[in-house]
Amino acid sequence: KRTFKIAVLPGDGIGPEIMEAAIEVLNAVSKKYDLQFEYKEGLIGGAAIDATGDPLPDETLKIAKESDAVLLAAVGGEKWDNLPTDKRPEKGLLRIRKELELFANLRPGKAYTALLDSSPLKETLIKGVDLVVIRELTGGIYFGEPRGIEERKGEKVGFNTMIYYEHEVKRIAKLAFEIARGRKKKVTSVDKANVLEVSALWREIVTETHSDYQDVELEHMYVDNCAMQLVRRPKDFDVIVTGNLFGDILSDEAGALTGSLGMLPSASIGERYALYEPVHGSAPDIAGQGIANPIAMILSAAMMLDITCKVPQAARDIENAVEKVLNEGYRTGDIWSPGTKKVNTKEMTEAIIEHI
Ligand code: NAD
Ligand code: IPM
Ligand code: MN
Repeated sequence: KRTFKIAVLPGDGIGPEIMEAAIEVLNAVSKKYDLQFEYKEGLIGGAAIDATGDPLPDETLKIAKESDAVLLAAVGGEKWDNLPTDKRPEKGLLRIRKELELFANLRPGKAYTALLDSSPLKETLIKGVDLVVIRELTGGIYFGEPRGIEERKGEKVGFNTMIYYEHEVKRIAKLAFEIARGRKKKVTSVDKANVLEVSALWREIVTETHSDYQDVELEHMYVDNCAMQLVRRPKDFDVIVTGNLFGDILSDEAGALTGSLGMLPSASIGERYALYEPVHGSAPDIAGQGIANPIAMILSAAMMLDITCKVPQAARDIENAVEKVLNEGYRTGDIWSPGTKKVNTKEMTEAIIEHI
């Protein structure tokens, strides 16, 4: 029996509801594949602020560092929205990414045949979309110094710094080319090099790194154009590599294309640690009702089986189960359309487990 230590960080809003679902699915898979998961739960986000005053308590970081992988659901909510940037639930998430050096966030976006009519785009545009956004996660404007709000010339001024070191661009570019080699061998690097020096350097380093990957096609695209092309011809994308802020925005867009944010999983990886988290947030508008779509969290757990546990067959099993329940017409509210069966979080989870 192979044993894995998993840090479980449910967080806020729908977080605990979807985390419970993912763990039930993992337990079902573990029986079939003779795996053993040892879960250790930790506080993060608003829940951690309420209990300890800190969105990322030391104890949580310790649990994460002693684990083989971290599962994180979502953080944030209205209750904590008036705290200063540095004290908010979201800061706990940003800090754990930084502390674990999770420099790359892989966000696959795939069109499910059963969900073609949940997409805001025409079926002909969306059918066959299969892309991955590789978002730089520990640098850029999210972490750049100086930052702050201060008084200048008699009024308040807010500022942040978008900054990338050569080594940060190089390692994410290398990863993008490596991943493209296992896919359709095309990388689109997204920047704003016509305006920003940080992007001019980004483009230069990505181009340089490409010389070791001549079998992969590289194209550069400005972020405004990319946002437009994603709705116009999403099928033309394979691997999109971009900085922290642009990646945040474009991956939500990619999520909406393929149906719902509630479907999009992600893996945040570095040299030593890995954390698996859905792309969506804590969905305060539906929290506590048991109706959230658990699929993004469940597919994030599948990415863990693939990347950390290296049991790709178990990951494929979960993905296939998800596809089957969608084909059978099961839908949570976010992906519901007339003629399909509306189910809650538990019913969706049980239906998925039946196929494992
Ligand atoms: P959100 O992703 O939480 O919600 C956006 C919309 O999508 C809402 O209508 C929500 O109901 C819906 N939605 C999201 N996930 C869903 C799911 N699994 N099933 C069904 N519907 C789903 O984004 P927001 O409303 O902008 O942010 C809410 C809070 O979450 C904020 O505090 C924000 O900072 C935080 N947030 C956290 C993360 C994270 O923890 N990784 C990511 C994004 C936002
Ligand atoms: C995400 C979220 C986070 C981000 C927030 C909550 C800090 O939007 O994971 O996409 O901006 O990275
Ligand atoms: Mn986001």
